[in-house]
Amino acid sequence: MAFAVNLSPVSLRSPEFTASRNKSPKSISLSFTKKRPVLSFAATQEPPTATPEIELEFIGPKPEGDGKYPVDRAAALSGEKLLRTIMSDNKLELYGTYGKVMNCGGGGSCGTCIVEVVEGQELLNERTNAELKYLKKKPESWRLACQTIVGNKENSGKVVIQRLPQWKK
Ligand code: FES
Repeated sequence: MAFAVNLSPVSLRSPEFTASRNKSPKSISLSFTKKRPVLSFAATQEPPTATPEIELEFIGPKPEGDGKYPVDRAAALSGEKLLRTIMSDNKLELYGTYGKVMNCGGGGSCGTCIVEVVEGQELLNERTNAELKYLKKKPESWRLACQTIVGNKENSGKVVIQRLPQWKK
């Protein structure tokens, strides 16, 4: 068996590298043609994008001396937390008198963590079975904070919550 090896000189020039500032190459291939090596890059993966945020406003629970309801503000990464956790993290009281003592700790079995979604219902998860049970005869806009996921990891926007809506009725 015979081999033919071409030992003719090959022109090797330093390859030129170009890269976008926003993309880092994830794979590099090097191939040879008869004339010169060809170096090519393929960006196969976009850099990770930041999780969007949900902006929250909490109204109440009671009007102040001037008759206006106080408003507290917070923000959360979309789809990362339950409404109950966000309120706890921001030291916003969620429960009425009975719920403060008798709540189930977020297990969906007491029905005391009621809030009203005034704006942004579309940014939250659907009502869970626990909510269907405890909020059966309550307004559609009422939710249990321990069952309510704020965002879905892709959406962003504003959610407005009335605290202790049962006190308004
Ligand atoms: S804390 Fe008990 S149902 Fe939400």
